[in-house]
Amino acid sequence: MSNTENATPPASAPKLDLPAGFLWGVSTSSYQIEGAAHEDGRAPSVWDTHCRQKGRVNNDDTGDVACDHYHRYAEDVGLMKAIGLDAYRFSIAWPRVLPRGRGKANGRGLDFYDRLIDAVLEAGIQPWICLYHWDLPQALEDLGGWINRDSAGWFADYALLTARRYGDRVKHWATFNEQNVSTIFGFALNWTPPGIADRAAYYRAVHHQNLAHGMAIDVLRDSVPGASLGVIHNRQIVYPERHDPAHQAAVAPMDAHWNDIFPDPQILGVYPELVADEIEPYVRAGDLGRICRPLDWFGLNHYGSMWAKVDPNAVFGFHLGAAPEEMPHSEIGWAIHPEAFHYELLNVHRRYKLPIYVTENGCGSDKDQPDEAGRVHDAHRIAYLRDYTQAMAEAVADGADVRGYFVWSLLDNFEWGSGYANRFGLVYVDFETQKRLPKASAQWYGELVRNNRGG
Ligand code: FCB
Repeated sequence: MSNTENATPPASAPKLDLPAGFLWGVSTSSYQIEGAAHEDGRAPSVWDTHCRQKGRVNNDDTGDVACDHYHRYAEDVGLMKAIGLDAYRFSIAWPRVLPRGRGKANGRGLDFYDRLIDAVLEAGIQPWICLYHWDLPQALEDLGGWINRDSAGWFADYALLTARRYGDRVKHWATFNEQNVSTIFGFALNWTPPGIADRAAYYRAVHHQNLAHGMAIDVLRDSVPGASLGVIHNRQIVYPERHDPAHQAAVAPMDAHWNDIFPDPQILGVYPELVADEIEPYVRAGDLGRICRPLDWFGLNHYGSMWAKVDPNAVFGFHLGAAPEEMPHSEIGWAIHPEAFHYELLNVHRRYKLPIYVTENGCGSDKDQPDEAGRVHDAHRIAYLRDYTQAMAEAVADGADVRGYFVWSLLDNFEWGSGYANRFGLVYVDFETQKRLPKASAQWYGELVRNNRGG
């Protein structure tokens, strides 16, 4: 039983002490919601391939249909408008706009994002684009994907195409979402695409994604008038699973790989000391200057904390460990630790000295279900959001420059390896009928936004 099951929802959303102009939003990603995997010229991404490998994803679920957002985007924008959001962060599916990953663009794919952006603007909501939320075109994977140094150039060309197309209407752009998760899980732990565990492949992918980020920032800066540019990183405090020297020794490497290996070179211009020697063979003269380009904001994705354990069979000798029994956790077992969020906001503020947007925070459940009256009483999610937004306001009071907050996520969706079992939405989705049903948390979040608009 989770520690939050009996949490009672607060009677009403609080008034928080936040800066004027504070932005409230939600985040989604292309593969998790769009569906229409084979329509209008979209080609497969590495996730389409991965989902087809038996046993990779819970229940062998796929993103083929997901929330069918490709067809139902107008209804979904209507849901956001009803909540009263200021901003919507979504990602572009690279293989929808460039089916081969490079070369000839797919007009029908590009048109979809035109329709979406126009609907979002029409609803009075600011669109925020993230260029890469893990759905690399399979055609590029076939050329080596991120292991191939050319990937940085492919990504910059993709950025140019989208910047020219949407830059007249969209000013907020992020290059990548959670490069750490996609490279550690994909290249070191063999959990997600491309499904390998190899030190050299991992280091190459890391360095090439760093290069891709810097090159795309230059492209976006040149092509989007009045651009506000950032990158989105998942950062969590790392604790040892047990207080013995072996587990303690796993903390520093996990911290370097999970938290610093991307933002440090991108913002501070250096690789963390612990990895510098091993990544060096892949770094060419001038690369760090290409990677470290001026940014306007830091996107922080944060959920709970993490525990490291020593694992001699793992590529880097560490693995994700278990949280202590007494740690409060969500229905899907993720730690609930708002104090760590408070800490991390201040840490990011001091370390990187950029305005911060919380680009993801939210609470998963495998139990959300409508009752007979058709209501989803997700008190646990309301309690989570209340405690985390409170922790954020306290970090602001302590000096963190936080400018906005995006809930993960608008809709229940395809939750990667968990398939459709883990629900993070403010809006319940019946995946049989595609019926949307705002949960109690959607109403609560709308109230939070209304109570805290304009600071
Ligand atoms: C983050 C991902 C997002 C979603 C949430 C729950 O790591 O960026 O796509 O899966 O976790």
